Amino acid sequence: MTLLSVNINKIALIRNSRGTNNPDLIKVALDCERFGAQGITLHPRPDQRHARYDDCVELKKILTTELNIEGYPTQNFIDVVLAVQPAQVTLVPDAPNALTSDAGWDTVTHQTMLTDVIKTLNARNIRTSLFVGTDATHVEYAAKCGAQRIELYTEHYAKNFITHKHEVILPYINAANIATANGLGINAGHDLNLDNLAFFAQQLPNLLEVSIGHALVCDALYLGLENTIQLYNRCLR
Ligand code: PXP
Repeated sequence: MTLLSVNINKIALIRNSRGTNNPDLIKVALDCERFGAQGITLHPRPDQRHARYDDCVELKKILTTELNIEGYPTQNFIDVVLAVQPAQVTLVPDAPNALTSDAGWDTVTHQTMLTDVIKTLNARNIRTSLFVGTDATHVEYAAKCGAQRIELYTEHYAKNFITHKHEVILPYINAANIATANGLGINAGHDLNLDNLAFFAQQLPNLLEVSIGHALVCDALYLGLENTIQLYNRCLR
């Protein structure tokens, strides 16, 4: 079964736009769980323009499903996740001012740094996942860095889904097979939506978790949060 982790950064962005606590991120996270999400993802960026570090602390106290915290491993980020101890940390290579994650790790170039960070996180029993593209060497080196999982960056799949879904899925299947052969669990995320998710989940072997934010929150405006989460979950069954 593939688990759905709902990325609630967009909810935090709306909250921050007025400087009050509306919408209440904690309430939304608990409602996501109640409506069927099996995890919550937060991506606190260095400027904390949407999810903030204190959101991570508060969410960890009340969630009953897994908290996944994504981010670039600055010392500040590492200090926060060590204090919060989420079930999973997903390391992403995005620059501090990036609009959103726009590439996976080059796990060869950054092997030494990633190995050190993963060792530190694993010592606190925090499962660690590396955000990567479909390059076979980058997947193999994710295992060499000591990661437990990879998160496949699905933007390229999503962009080409309408015109060539059968071709564009192939490198992802290949990457998933290499990951499995190297003992890595497989997550995926970015630009997944109600149109492209079911095919991805059906085709990709051993897909453990998807993390979805933007499209899910946009759909919830029209369909409601409860209905939307159920529709995403249906794509995964
Ligand atoms: N995975 C990572 C590493 C991300 O940075 C994001 C966006 O914050 C997502 C998944 C979710 O992408 P989307 O918002 O397009 O669903």
